[in-house]
Amino acid sequence: MATDLNLIEFHAGSTSAMTGSARVPGDKSISHRSIMMGSIADGITEVDGFLEGEDAISTMNAFRAMGVRIDGPDQGRVKVHGVGLHGLKQPAAPLDCGNSGTSMRLISGLLAGQGFDVELVGDASLSKRPMKRVMDPLALMGAQIEAQEGGRPPLKIKANKALKAISYTLPMASAQVKSCVLLAGLYADGVTETTEPAVTRDHTERMLRGFGVHVETEGPTARVRGGQRLKATRIDVPSDISSAAFFMVAASICEQADITLRHVGLNPTRTGVIDILKLMGANIELSNHAVVGGEPVADVHIRSAQLKGIQIPEELVPLAIDEFPVIFVAAANAVGTTVLTGAEELRVKESDRIAVMADGLKACGVNARPTADGMVIEGLGGKPGLRYNATDIESQGDHRIAMSFTVAAIRALGTMRIRGAQTVDTSFPGFVALCQSLGMAVQSVKVGP
Ligand code: S3P
Repeated sequence: MATDLNLIEFHAGSTSAMTGSARVPGDKSISHRSIMMGSIADGITEVDGFLEGEDAISTMNAFRAMGVRIDGPDQGRVKVHGVGLHGLKQPAAPLDCGNSGTSMRLISGLLAGQGFDVELVGDASLSKRPMKRVMDPLALMGAQIEAQEGGRPPLKIKANKALKAISYTLPMASAQVKSCVLLAGLYADGVTETTEPAVTRDHTERMLRGFGVHVETEGPTARVRGGQRLKATRIDVPSDISSAAFFMVAASICEQADITLRHVGLNPTRTGVIDILKLMGANIELSNHAVVGGEPVADVHIRSAQLKGIQIPEELVPLAIDEFPVIFVAAANAVGTTVLTGAEELRVKESDRIAVMADGLKACGVNARPTADGMVIEGLGGKPGLRYNATDIESQGDHRIAMSFTVAAIRALGTMRIRGAQTVDTSFPGFVALCQSLGMAVQSVKVGP
């Protein structure tokens, strides 16, 4: 199975000093959406700072397969030659979403109201992930979608040109589900409305507005009227705060660190990791605030700090949903106990991030107790010289597991071997080189064919 492959290992040693300044790659969520919306817009959309990672490339290839000309990526520059709201063509083969849940869930919404049949497939990790959460609202809109047992991929979407607008209350805090329904809403008859139980990332709403679509938001509710055409635009993709988060934790737990991450996207629906780390005592300062293409950005300056354990406020959970693997590493290095609750969504990410992180931390000798919806971690920090064991880690087809244990190695005794680390290319090409440029002792070792 793809998730068990070990083609690349990271060998990560302890690091006592980190300095310098770096720009992490472009935001994954925004990169996906730039291709999707650019493809169904009228005219040519120019994108800068596009993430050249495998997930965003999966989305790009899917739209190419549906007849969209896309130039690039060339150093983050992409030109999408939009085919208009009704210009997509039936692909000759199933669309391969690779490891990317965002591709599969958002594309399902966009394709539910097209005049052709299409199949969406994914890798071993994606093939285990729940799709019922998007199939349910799309079925209410009149879409016909078949999945495998338990609502797993592949998904077969039937041609259907008559979607009905719905008013949908999401059963879970999921930007992917919200975005899926809003994108389907572009093809529905009437006003489609989503209401979310907690604030989730709002890149879809912001970007649709950037393409000239009228999207109304009122508290947790977003509304879009079907049939509105998108006008091509320019998109400047900020650096991904989810990628920056690894270095926020790395610099916090490193004995002597003083680093700056430039031009990081600071959309308020994404900044939970900064709030949580600050509650833990992290030394993080923001400067050079600006707004690019409707998204706030700033430079993030991080210095070493003695972190302390906290009870993580539940309202911050959806705002930091992708950052928990590395927040667990911060907790393992804190003084005192950290408790996370209300985060059952972590069990259905690229891996079961509660189980996989708890197992990995336990193997290091950290007392990490998984719970149904979170984790309790007793930090090892505060006692000078106290460190956890270095151990071998399986990435389990999950990029954020691999990168989180690379960060954990900063304070491990000896070298951590992170197996299956090729998965990091899904979201963070150039991760090892960037780690090295900031002083981290990491090597990428090719072990597979
Ligand atoms: C994403 C939404 C989040 C996040 C994922 C990207 C998006 O998933 O975990 O990495 O781009 O909309 P959920 O919306 O399912 O929580």
